[in-house]
Amino acid sequence: MLQLNTNGAEFIKRHIGPNAQDTQKMLDTIGAKSIDELIEKTIPNTIRSKKPMQIPEGLSEFEMLQSLKKIGEKNIVATNFIGQGYYGTITPSVILRNIFENPGWYTQYTPYQAEIAQGRLESLLNFQTMVCDLTGLPIANASLLDEATAAAEAMAMIFNHVNKTDTITQPKFFVDSAIFPQTKGVLVTRAAPIHIQVEEGNYQTAKIDNTYFGAILQYPNNTGSIEDYTSFIDQVHQAGGLVILVADIMSLTLLKSPGELNADVAVGNTQQFGVPMGFGGPHAAYFATKDEFKRGMPGRLIGVSIDAQGNRALRMALQTREQHIKREKATSNICTAQALLANMAVMYTIYHGPVGLKKIAQKIHGLAQNVEAQLTSLGITQANKFYFDTLHLTGFDIAALQKEALAADINFRYFNDGKNDHTISITIDETISLSDIEKVVGLFEKITGKKASGKAASAASIPTSLVRSSSYLQHPVFNSHHSETQMMRYIKQLENKDLSLNTSMISLGSCTMKLNAATEMIPVSWPAFSTMHPFAPSSQTLGYQEMATELSAYLCETTGFTACSLQPNSGAQGEYAGLLTIRAYHEHYKQAHRNIVLIPISAHGTNPASAVMAGFKVIVVACDAAGNIDMKDLLEKANLHKDNLGGLMITYPSTHGVFEETVIDICDHIHTLGGLVYMDGANMNAQVGLTSPGAIGADVCHLNLHKTFAIPHGGGGPGMGPICVNDKLAPFLPGHIYNKNKMGAVSAAPMGSASILLISYAYIKMLGATGLELATAYAILNANYMKSRLEKNYTILYAGKNGSCAHEFIIDLRPFKATAGIEAEDVAKRLIDYGFHAPTMSFPVAGTIMIEPTESEDKAELDRFCDALISIHDEITAIEKGLSDKLDNPLKNAPHTQKVICADEWKHAYTRQEAAFPLYYVQQNKFWPTVARVNNTHGDRNLVCTCEPVASYAE
Ligand SMILES: Cc1ncc(COP(=O)(O)O)c(C=O)c1O
Repeated sequence: MLQLNTNGAEFIKRHIGPNAQDTQKMLDTIGAKSIDELIEKTIPNTIRSKKPMQIPEGLSEFEMLQSLKKIGEKNIVATNFIGQGYYGTITPSVILRNIFENPGWYTQYTPYQAEIAQGRLESLLNFQTMVCDLTGLPIANASLLDEATAAAEAMAMIFNHVNKTDTITQPKFFVDSAIFPQTKGVLVTRAAPIHIQVEEGNYQTAKIDNTYFGAILQYPNNTGSIEDYTSFIDQVHQAGGLVILVADIMSLTLLKSPGELNADVAVGNTQQFGVPMGFGGPHAAYFATKDEFKRGMPGRLIGVSIDAQGNRALRMALQTREQHIKREKATSNICTAQALLANMAVMYTIYHGPVGLKKIAQKIHGLAQNVEAQLTSLGITQANKFYFDTLHLTGFDIAALQKEALAADINFRYFNDGKNDHTISITIDETISLSDIEKVVGLFEKITGKKASGKAASAASIPTSLVRSSSYLQHPVFNSHHSETQMMRYIKQLENKDLSLNTSMISLGSCTMKLNAATEMIPVSWPAFSTMHPFAPSSQTLGYQEMATELSAYLCETTGFTACSLQPNSGAQGEYAGLLTIRAYHEHYKQAHRNIVLIPISAHGTNPASAVMAGFKVIVVACDAAGNIDMKDLLEKANLHKDNLGGLMITYPSTHGVFEETVIDICDHIHTLGGLVYMDGANMNAQVGLTSPGAIGADVCHLNLHKTFAIPHGGGGPGMGPICVNDKLAPFLPGHIYNKNKMGAVSAAPMGSASILLISYAYIKMLGATGLELATAYAILNANYMKSRLEKNYTILYAGKNGSCAHEFIIDLRPFKATAGIEAEDVAKRLIDYGFHAPTMSFPVAGTIMIEPTESEDKAELDRFCDALISIHDEITAIEKGLSDKLDNPLKNAPHTQKVICADEWKHAYTRQEAAFPLYYVQQNKFWPTVARVNNTHGDRNLVCTCEPVASYAE
């Protein structure tokens, strides 16, 4: 029996909003006797789970922290000189405390509601400006998932650009052998399904002709050498191709920028700007390019526009490129990126300023020179003529060194290709001190039996032709906040502009903005997890391995599947990875021609975008009037394409908020025709413990851990999208250069953004089987309660056969356009005046809003939100009745800023009180938007994606 006052873990009552009395009142409103009855009415019996999940009962918060601490102690925090894209870094405490560990920042949603997101939009604009300045390129996006996937996105972008006329039949892409192997791995995976031929070689000897559409090189390269690519770049351009440079962002403070070298795209990681390594992530990758490619850019782009009062306002720009609008024709499948980490990286830059940043780079470089001088005095050969932070060493007994180093918990990077490359590299980062260097030199002294002399470093480790002379980070924002007080206040100032979960509920359908409990977040900051290098020897990472094995088993248990990959670092990456398993399965059974995937029209835009990335052709299936997949259309299309049917992608419960009764039949039919079924796990919050993707007959699903499993959304990332599969697909899960699986990698690190897996682990450990099941039941209860309250005023689109919804429901606002001239956007913006973030807008149906309250909201908050929507309905009725003007009314003018309300002049027919304090509770907890309604088209017509010059503020 599903009941709150069970003997389950104490955390259950912390996580689930309603108490026992309110539960009863809510059931009464719905007209159900018990939660069990509601669930029976809602979830078809045929797919209900028959037995409880094999997940231990929940631990208390205290117990969980203690047990995780013990697991963390199994990780060995070594001193890392591995480099290879991941570096020790010092997170300034003011950023750690005020951003990384601050729910005001980490519980924000992606800034679709720009009026209440100006703080993070400002910060992301700063990020873009920082990237543009350092790379010397004019336009940059607001982060990508990791360096390797950013490189893959760049490859896809330049291919699409060069192949605009779709005439390239055998596209070739040159990959310099000296790029990081993990980047190469992800490129190869991404290239195969879209038939790009990856040609690896040495840029110095390569002959690039017009059969190549582009090339990628790394700066400084895999072994740390700084190469001058100028003439190679010319060669590629002359052949009609484009060039991508993967550039180390810290080094760009000292090195000529990719833009100055005439590269077309620069990508890389901003991890070393104050974001802990976290065993692979999360970190914000960057992507910068020339202006002419802006419409082909992947990911989110922040731009400057104006609001309804003509004031400067920010919002996401050029959204028509994106998956949620362009679907299979989108420039990428990016939805969740790495906003929180981008904010941290740019705040690090703002805190240090250009001078401080350069000093850090110089210190790193100076220490590297120091090590070089000492080691060469021991007779060791350093192969990099020019370098920034990395020395490439040979000429000594590597095995002996490795033994000594391991014993001293010191990690170097060991190159061993099984042939003649037996070398090591040593990479210096910001955390390395002189005493660390003494220890390193000591190891070499021991194995060589010699004493190093402190020979002076040579001055020329950066070639004169590549020394940076151009300025960067000159904007006042990078030169104003260098004391802790200034920094703290700047962060707070931005935070205050944004509505997060610490203000009110964010009822975003499909996005599951549930509680991100503080206890779940705490372990992410523990050095035992946060400082781990993803390529550290496995003997040092036992704690991570234990947590990951346990978490994978729990995720398999919840999905009804047998194997799991934790690698994909967003839901959309999970889709891509899952579809690759389907592709690999068909190839394995000599059915490579099965390249068609059916996707219902109601699917999220990432589904078709990911399908195309994975090499599938998308056939869209209609939905019927009740919101279910149109069976007739599905069967017709499935049968028509049966010979080439790769699979079906479905979301369950559907994006219409309904548990479709026919789902088992649908899956069976696809299987009969030889296809496989991918289930989009975005709605798993309505399934956990009550049913499962395995039970409905799917073969693979992703899980948005940043939805169902409590990872916060971070204002647009981080997220994690592990995939779970059945036995059929288990052999085809993503591999990595560092594991034996024959499949390719989809992320740079073997476990993606590993450190935030701890959040989901903690969530599962504290709720236990009972709590997880109850959370699902309450998600459904809360949605049905709201639906019951709101259906008197609004038309609810779609419901199950017994009239109930799943964990979310859609309100149809389209009729008000005719009756009152009111559109969904007006309602969304008016909700801001009531202190709420709008629900999901116009997905999956244009002109509607989709509400998902989650289990974490209590009855009082649900009531406030319902009261707001009912009051808004009254305002619409007033317009319909002619009591309120059709154009000058609180909805059309929403949201109302403080500036507008306090202005000397007030010309509207409604009062200031009605505008700003429309309901009883708003007085106690008023949230002021800082800009009025943002003008989207103005911004896209006058695209500005970096901080404007100071003069423009003066004007
Ligand atoms: C139904 C659905 N599928 C897929 C995604 C993509 O997930 P992510 O944003 O983690 O890439 C979303 C995101 O909101 C979604 O709602």
